[in-house]
Amino acid sequence: MNRSSKKNSDSRQSKRSTHGRGEVRRERLFGLTFIAVATAGMAIFIWLNYLSVRSLGDSPSPLAVLGKQAWQRAGCVECHTIFGNGGYNAPDLTRVTDRRSDKEITDWLTTGPVIRPTTKTAHVAVAPADAESILEFLKYIATVPNMWDGQPGKPKGAGR
Ligand code: HEC
Repeated sequence: MNRSSKKNSDSRQSKRSTHGRGEVRRERLFGLTFIAVATAGMAIFIWLNYLSVRSLGDSPSPLAVLGKQAWQRAGCVECHTIFGNGGYNAPDLTRVTDRRSDKEITDWLTTGPVIRPTTKTAHVAVAPADAESILEFLKYIATVPNMWDGQPGKPKGAGR
């Protein structure tokens, strides 16, 4: 080994010694901590997104979709509201399945009772199959997460 090469290797060694073992360990620890925190943060972010998407509820069943179509055909929205939107002539139906049984609703829909004896107006009557699907649609509506608490019963001053 000649002199100059020895000097080179010396200087390399002295360089390493200023960057001590403790420092290397600290840097490595910092790196690992950073990766751990970033990974945990990402996992929490994905988890929260999953929770918020899940809280949107399920999509409607095929029968509930048929019910929506029957609801449109019969023009139910001309008198009734859902989530506060629609006609203001009759009770809001957002949560009607919470206050009426399945049979009460389907009977109501198939028999089309007289709703205003003074004017002899009859409630819309639909075929039994439509009543079933509309019931399914109304049940689905009641499960959609929303802050609307509905108007139980006939709204005041409406439908004179
Ligand atoms: C011409 C207006 C009108 C139309 C159209 C109409 N309804 Fe009604 N509906 C009413 C009125 C008014 C009442 C309240 C009757 C009462 O309380 O005596 C009512 C009551 C109801 C109720 C019972 C509500 C409760 O709070 O107990 C249900 C369920 C209902 N309607 C469903 C429907 C469906 C489904 C359709 C479409 C097939 C429809 N209605 C179409 C006027 C209407």
